[in-house]
Amino acid sequence: MSENYFKKYPSKDGFYKEYGGAFIPPVLEEEMKKINDAYYAISKSHNFISELRSIRKHYQGRPTPVYFCNRLSEKYGGRIYLKREDLNHTGAHKLNHCMGEALLAKYLGKKKLIAETGAGQHGVALATAAAYFGLECEIHMGEVDIAKEHPNVMRMKVLGATVVPVSHGLKTLKEAVDSAFQSYLKDPITTIYCIGSVVGPHPFPMMVRDFQRIVGIEAREQFFDMTGELPDSIVACVGGGSNAMGLFSGFMDDEECKLYGIEPGGRSMDNGEHAATMTLGKPGVIHGFKCYMLQDEKGEPAPVYSVASGLDYPGVGPEHSMLKDMKKVTYDVIDDKAAIDAFFELSRLEGIIPALESAHAVAYAIKLAQKEPQTSILVNLSGRGDKDMDFVVEKYGEDYF
Ligand SMILES: Cc1ncc(COP(=O)(O)O)c(C=O)c1O
Repeated sequence: MSENYFKKYPSKDGFYKEYGGAFIPPVLEEEMKKINDAYYAISKSHNFISELRSIRKHYQGRPTPVYFCNRLSEKYGGRIYLKREDLNHTGAHKLNHCMGEALLAKYLGKKKLIAETGAGQHGVALATAAAYFGLECEIHMGEVDIAKEHPNVMRMKVLGATVVPVSHGLKTLKEAVDSAFQSYLKDPITTIYCIGSVVGPHPFPMMVRDFQRIVGIEAREQFFDMTGELPDSIVACVGGGSNAMGLFSGFMDDEECKLYGIEPGGRSMDNGEHAATMTLGKPGVIHGFKCYMLQDEKGEPAPVYSVASGLDYPGVGPEHSMLKDMKKVTYDVIDDKAAIDAFFELSRLEGIIPALESAHAVAYAIKLAQKEPQTSILVNLSGRGDKDMDFVVEKYGEDYF
């Protein structure tokens, strides 16, 4: 049934029921078609698959482990497990799709990779992939995020990427996507826009999901090996939704596993200081695709906010939008405060410092465990928190030290 699901969605034109598609300027239509055709032809070829497999094993260090959180479970109840994407090379799940996208770029004869980044993890992962394949790399990043995620900005530069600061609007993720798209439009022939999540025009949501599926495939097998059963609940944070789609993909057929996508509740759900797209958004078009979207009175993308730079996006992947309507996944929110608490709890009880994005998923797992002490929960620990250290210590240190 899984294979049927993956064959059914997206449709040929990139639709997940009413969501997705490609709402793009005519100059890009031909290029997207080329990428789509190449993806179907190349990604199924023996050479592509064996090269990607070898990269995953010898370069990225896959499979990443599944780890049982003994002390966290003891304190809060339940049995909490982590899929350790923080141990993937570069410290987050983002490298899974970046190596795939860059490998495709190489087969397509592209010279340069362009992308946006919020928390800097996708930027670092793409800069890493560019270094590996000998390609140029240009990363667009909002000035607010540049200040917040300084270590990742330095990593991108050390890896040889050009970082383009974005100074318009809220100077965060949405504006970085706008800016990267503009740059890509100038030369779509020799460059490729390697989008950082399961968002954007078709075929990107599908390609990124497919490259992330490895997370769910590994995790299902590992969890079963460890426990002899499948997890009751599966939890992942949702910005654009790539780490969540990766993990959920492994469990699409397993009716007994409940899937939870966790959005940022930010400072407040009442006055717009959040990025809870699924919870409070409605269908609209952003960055070339249709999805749930937080909108202002004019139907434009609304300003969003989260303590986690990688989650503050007013749109979300089209596949998530469909899964919400199908009630296959439950989407819920965790606010800044609970995420920061979870950041410190996981650090102090398990010796694992999570990314602020992943801390949202950990916080939700803690809530579930408190409610149902017999339950087993698998969390996608999508990244490690080194990038967030300076920010967290400066802003919240006093409350926790
Ligand atoms: C560690 C980490 N997790 C999660 C995300 C959110 O992205 P997505 O929803 O595509 O997994 C980001 C984005 O930057 C990230 O850096």
